[in-house]
Amino acid sequence: MSHHDTPSRPGASIHGTSHTQAEGDAATRLFRHLSIISMYAPGTASFSHNSFLSLMIHRDREIREALQMTVDTLRKFVMPEVIFGEGARMQAVHYLDNLGVSHALIVTDPGIIKAGWVREIASAAESVGISSTIFSHVSENPRTTEVDAGTSMYRENGCDGILAIGGGSPMDCAKGIAILSTNGGGIQQYEGVDKIRHMGPPLICIPTTAGSSADVSQFAIITEQEKLRKFGIISKTIIPDVSLVDPNLLTTLPQKFIGYCGFDALTHAIEAYVSTGSSSLTDLHALEAIRMIKRALPPAYHDSKDSEATRLMMLGSLHAGLAFSNASLGLVHAMAHPISGLYDLPHGETNSLLLPVVIRYNYPSAQARYDRIGRILGASEEDIQENGAEAIIGVVRELAEKVGITGSLGDRGVLSKDIRTLSDHAMVDGCIVTNPILPELGEVMRLYEAAL
Ligand SMILES: [Fe+2]
Repeated sequence: MSHHDTPSRPGASIHGTSHTQAEGDAATRLFRHLSIISMYAPGTASFSHNSFLSLMIHRDREIREALQMTVDTLRKFVMPEVIFGEGARMQAVHYLDNLGVSHALIVTDPGIIKAGWVREIASAAESVGISSTIFSHVSENPRTTEVDAGTSMYRENGCDGILAIGGGSPMDCAKGIAILSTNGGGIQQYEGVDKIRHMGPPLICIPTTAGSSADVSQFAIITEQEKLRKFGIISKTIIPDVSLVDPNLLTTLPQKFIGYCGFDALTHAIEAYVSTGSSSLTDLHALEAIRMIKRALPPAYHDSKDSEATRLMMLGSLHAGLAFSNASLGLVHAMAHPISGLYDLPHGETNSLLLPVVIRYNYPSAQARYDRIGRILGASEEDIQENGAEAIIGVVRELAEKVGITGSLGDRGVLSKDIRTLSDHAMVDGCIVTNPILPELGEVMRLYEAAL
């Protein structure tokens, strides 16, 4: 039975307070959702605001069902050119040249520079006459101010292309710089789906973590520090031109980040597989990602020089990226983004601590799909039959423990007093719309409480 069949539950109604106020809030929220849905069902973006507001005369549940029907119909699948394999990073020079770049802005972080990867590629580019400027002021959760600073550097140095080397943070920041360099303005104004008018300059990504998949996705997540929130930009224009996926780069990633990023990738695959925006194309990638991550994450965590494990993790993360970029995500990410916005905790770690409560909540609405995930992660048939969601949660927790992730969000400093703010932000996060159940505010608050 789906959530849509259960109209009244305690604390679940947004119509409980002022009727007009509640409808206004729901209108804003659902209008945003509608634009997110246009990602899967092209054309619904032209659905007018007025006709949308007229839907508000209906009960919330009816609108949701109408939106769900839209999600159920059309699908698209987009991805960049991908080169996979050891040494793929050195193809950067060839692609910079091919894309007509004469001066590249290299967006990275200090750790990657220290590991030597930037120098190697910059000097290879220099040897064929392609100069570069390095921008490395990127936080773990990239900020609007950093996108502005990178854009200024891009313009001041006469750059004509961007090369991002790093994890999700430098790559998302690079996408932000790409947007501003051709569209101008502030990065906040591009929040949402398909708000970007002009294509950016050539963008080449070289991921150094097996997790974020920003190198293949049409997503960028940026932090607005003044408002302590993260926001998402979704557009085909920010899919990189080329992604160079080189397992060698994983060898210099600190151990704990192999665990965190691996769990981010696993969460991408799980959420994409149970997403209401999934399709047979994204299912293939999601399931393959779960298989690879289950097999390779513990050995890659224990020894980043294990070349077979790192190769599988890079490939697993790539599969997860292709799945979620096209099927979108769910409640784990919707609830994780506000936590990183407020507390600056590592994204993958936050995901791993939210997964159990969200699986328990979602399970009745996507049981067969969660059971399949559980089997791949090693749950026995007997355990699944007897314990349902708890069997799936058990194998997820087991894998988390193998990479040193235990405890709760409360242990990481997340406070009860912030749950209302976190929940308000989660309710308007774009990822929530493709969760198998669309929760009410009170339910999201209870889920945060349970994860503390
Ligand atoms: Fe993620």
